[in-house]
Amino acid sequence: MGGHALLIPLPYQGHINPMMQLAWKLVSDGFLVTFLNTDFNHNRIMQAKSRNWDGIRMISIPDGLPPDDKRTNIPNLMEALDNSMAPSVIMRLIDVINEREEEHKVTGIIIDVIICSGLKAVADFYQIPLFAFHTSLVANCAIRYFIPKLLSLGILGHDGAPKEEKKITYIPSMPPLRSGDLPWLFGGGEKMFKRCIRMGESLKQIKGVLANSFYELDGPVVEELSREVEVYPIGPLIPCEFLEGDKRSTSKAPPSFWADDVECLEWLDKQSTQSVIYVSFGSVAVWSQIQVEEFAAGLEATQRPFLWVVRSDLMEGSKPTFPQGFMERVRERSCIVSWAPQLQVLSHPSIACFVTHCGWNSVQESITMGVPMLCSPYFVDQFLNRTYIVDVWKIGLPLESNKDGIIEKGEIARAVDRLLVGEDGAEISKHATKLMRTSRDTVKEGGSSFNNYSIFLHQMKKQLVD
Ligand code: UDX
Repeated sequence: MGGHALLIPLPYQGHINPMMQLAWKLVSDGFLVTFLNTDFNHNRIMQAKSRNWDGIRMISIPDGLPPDDKRTNIPNLMEALDNSMAPSVIMRLIDVINEREEEHKVTGIIIDVIICSGLKAVADFYQIPLFAFHTSLVANCAIRYFIPKLLSLGILGHDGAPKEEKKITYIPSMPPLRSGDLPWLFGGGEKMFKRCIRMGESLKQIKGVLANSFYELDGPVVEELSREVEVYPIGPLIPCEFLEGDKRSTSKAPPSFWADDVECLEWLDKQSTQSVIYVSFGSVAVWSQIQVEEFAAGLEATQRPFLWVVRSDLMEGSKPTFPQGFMERVRERSCIVSWAPQLQVLSHPSIACFVTHCGWNSVQESITMGVPMLCSPYFVDQFLNRTYIVDVWKIGLPLESNKDGIIEKGEIARAVDRLLVGEDGAEISKHATKLMRTSRDTVKEGGSSFNNYSIFLHQMKKQLVD
């Protein structure tokens, strides 16, 4: 028996998915895993589809918001979580689990880095290890961690805004960033900035940070942050079937809030190799009607087949509508779904490129399948992710928006052509294939993520024998 791990993700799809993959890894290493969701998400997951939880105990607690709240206002939910997932609540929960499970008391906690504040005292009380879990690229953790330094150097003002607008090197190990790449500048204002500072302070006390990323993506940043806290990039946390060649199904699919539309896979089977543009903006992004229309017109103008995920809640308060006659005109070469089995889609041979909001899971999934990207970041970490995709790894191109923040139809058609037939495209495709191999090697025996995971596992098991 490997012990009993309590896993606590931030209640968002993009945070639950990688944490669940970690849960499965721990189960296969002999751990009993209790996975804590909010009641709201637990109900959505259970309604979307029955999954096989393979020995994972799914439990839930209220998130503190009224049942009819849609939970789309992120700062509101974060504030509610400060109380509903406060250290005292987690402590009571552990007591309940331990009372019921005399034989299998909780022996370790892994909690999303964004809500890890104050948990060190809880772990110390039970004398068990605590790890913070960072969903995204390590650079996104580091830039937040080093905020106090950036403040003391006068690079940032007290509201988190940079003193200068131009592209600069904020942290020596990172590429120069645009002011707009700073993750706290999107949604939540000064409160979000203070939350980032608090996260850094908590990390100083915690044993280590696990990251769903791999060393080779931003090694210099991992080195720099490691001088302050222990950092273990253990990604990509993706079902191993997708990392081991061309198997295209898994019993360990992510626990989605929406039911997968699997018919799109049959549609993909009918398309030619590397011909389809896949478009998806993750689980949170909200669009305006005008953006929906420009995208529809842009995809139509490419004259290529496309698979487009249009979530039922893509627009706030209303259903997106397409330009007149659009559906008839593209019927023969399009598939529009409300939620796709994304890993299966990205690993399908007919996919040519991925138009993405640069949410970290999507980016890493795309890297692992060797699919080049067109980048249109939406918020928080996604702007920095784009900088790495375009400027550092050179595996994608940006989609530029106009002065009103809208990506116009012409830009979409131009960028798709540049990526798929231009000279840039050939280079980008070469880099994407190379990084795909690296991403798969890193989780094999002797790879950097494999080794980091072993160290983490050792620490999780150490106190079981001490
Ligand atoms: C969020 C943030 O946006 C992201 O930047 C952060 O790092 C993690 O959480 P989200 O916006 O939903 O997540 O995007 P992303 O990180 O890409 O996660 C979406 C997940 O849903 C991916 O694992 C993707 O495979 C899955 N997905 C998405 C589907 O399974 N089907 C779909 O149709 C769309």
